[in-house]
Amino acid sequence: MTSGPLVDRFGRVHRDLRISVTDRCSLRCTYCMPEQGVPWLPRDTMLTTEEVVRLAGVAVSLGIEEIRLTGGEPLLRRDLVDVVAGLAALEPSPEISMTTNGVGLAKTARALADAGLTRVNVSIDTLRRDIFLDLAKRDRLKDTLEGIHASAEAGLVPVKLNTVLMRGVNDHEAPDLLGFALEHGYQLRFIEQMPLDAQHQWDRTQMITGEEILERLRVRYDLTPLPDEARGSAPAELFLVDGGPATVGVIASVTMPFCGTCDRVRLTADGMVRNCLFATGETDLRTSLRAGASDEELADLFRASIGAKLPGHGINEPDFLQPPRPMSRIGG
Ligand code: 5AD
Ligand code: SF4
Repeated sequence: MTSGPLVDRFGRVHRDLRISVTDRCSLRCTYCMPEQGVPWLPRDTMLTTEEVVRLAGVAVSLGIEEIRLTGGEPLLRRDLVDVVAGLAALEPSPEISMTTNGVGLAKTARALADAGLTRVNVSIDTLRRDIFLDLAKRDRLKDTLEGIHASAEAGLVPVKLNTVLMRGVNDHEAPDLLGFALEHGYQLRFIEQMPLDAQHQWDRTQMITGEEILERLRVRYDLTPLPDEARGSAPAELFLVDGGPATVGVIASVTMPFCGTCDRVRLTADGMVRNCLFATGETDLRTSLRAGASDEELADLFRASIGAKLPGHGINEPDFLQPPRPMSRIGG
């Protein structure tokens, strides 16, 4: 392997690394996990903080500029503040953000911000306690809401909110969720449900499409599409709400794939590099790392993974196979 940044066969330069820091979660969202959860990864396969920071350092040397912490639920990692501090100390310093369900965030938002976290995406699918319980199997709406408000107070802004709509469960709440975001100055993005649930129950006909999301929002709001440049490599199509300046995003991963501008690579909690959410293979960095591999050898493994990246997720192809790892073990 030659040296150089993380460019794949299609010329996509990779700048965004997502690190899953645990596969454990405080919720059980239907589109992700069954109520009883999934078997957790054995503790000794999980990367230590030093190992995470070492691999992230290699990635940063390969041009990674942004690191997003994911899970499971990242807040369930006890030394999360140390992970953030370790990443923030890398040179050149990456931008560090986190995707979370917000449960427990009210307690740690300030410490995370002080350690170097700059932004959060909080998943919130409903504003109704009964629906939250039905969808996430845990009575934690209040914690999520407190976490959202606390992250804004801690300066983790702009606070972005992610919503997955499920037919007959929370799809009627789309305008209310947007109203909530507008009221508080949060940036809401709706995400099409992807075939990543551990139960393999995803069904295309049940999915609320990007088009349907817009239809539901337009009952209450006037939406004007922003030009694609506003989007860059970000997956969300953006719309001005009632003339702006507030916007709402729609991430139509299934019906309008954005794979062509994908600049992401993922590292799982057990030290595997995944070049796509939907990859069926992965590259084992943990074994090499623990066997004493040099930074250059680890860099070669990152490059090999990116070199093998496919042009797209293939969800819409007849031979699509759902990846064996569910979302809770990949991290979003
Ligand atoms: N489809 C779409 N989004 C999902 N997420 C989790 N599972 C799915 C799925 N099957 C989202 C969560 C959260 C982030 C981690 O990914 O809502 O915002
Ligand atoms: Fe937990 Fe996120 Fe999966 Fe929900 S989607 S169960 S919050 S990992």
